[in-house]
Amino acid sequence: MATSITWLIIGASRGIGLEFVRQHVSLGHRVIATARSSSSALDAIRQNAPDLVKVLTCDVSSSESINAFIEQFVQSCATKIDYAVINAGILEYPNRSLEMSFDLFAKHLHTNTVGPIIIAQKLLQLQDISIGTVAFMSSDSGSTGNFLSFEDGFAAYAASKAALNQVLRHMAEELKRKKSKTIILALHPGEVATDMSKIDISWEIDGGQITAGESVNGMAQVIRSKTIEHTGTFWTWENKEYPW
Ligand SMILES: NC(=O)c1ccc[n+]([C@@H]2O[C@H](COP(=O)([O-])OP(=O)(O)OC[C@H]3O[C@@H](n4cnc5c(N)ncnc54)[C@H](OP(=O)(O)O)[C@@H]3O)[C@@H](O)[C@H]2O)c1
Repeated sequence: MATSITWLIIGASRGIGLEFVRQHVSLGHRVIATARSSSSALDAIRQNAPDLVKVLTCDVSSSESINAFIEQFVQSCATKIDYAVINAGILEYPNRSLEMSFDLFAKHLHTNTVGPIIIAQKLLQLQDISIGTVAFMSSDSGSTGNFLSFEDGFAAYAASKAALNQVLRHMAEELKRKKSKTIILALHPGEVATDMSKIDISWEIDGGQITAGESVNGMAQVIRSKTIEHTGTFWTWENKEYPW
């Protein structure tokens, strides 16, 4: 039965995370969705499919909130997560290196790097829960091999995603050494029309924006197509391998 597939979506109140929930519930998959606080859109999906959707609370920038989420998650009696998508993220624009405050830089790092990695770490430490794939929502902005020098105002954001990429690569290698079968992936969702992209940038977006629906449809196929041989790799929503 299709309901045997379970997704965990971290950061599902709106945008790409919400769309992951919407698409997979409509396919009959089970979804554990997390949000700092739920949204009317997420509540509506849960109310329409209460047997498929569970909403838990998690602020990824808070160690206490992550610990409380892990406790709730254990109590939910889930034994298997097929696909965990660690999606929550922020872009407080602009975040230029010559202007940003200590706190703004730290906020990007806590939300986009430290929180996502610690959540994955704590899930992977749970003895009785098997996790098939952990897909981290990265960004082309975080690539150092394909540095996007035109992205004025993206210094802290890009650094936080580059750091995320580097730690998740280590996570993949550490898991390999332990003979773990969990697959670790980084994803670039494309340039997606969400609240995050409602900013006044000075450059043209190559190829234009896509919808959250198109992005998630593509990323879900990417996630589901990857096997343990692909652990520690970086993919776009169009299934093109991306340079670190
Ligand atoms: N949109 C793009 O073009 C694009 C491109 C590349 C990468 N990405 C990445 O894709 C991911 C999703 O972005 P989006 O476009 O869907 O952005 P969005 O519409 O702004 O949504 C961001 C999501 O992250 C959640 N979030 C933010 N801070 C959080 C925290 N401290 N704890 C828990 N959840 C938190 C938000 O929850 P609240 O409602 O509580 O704020 C919201 O659900 C991000 O990691 C982003 O960096 C997006």
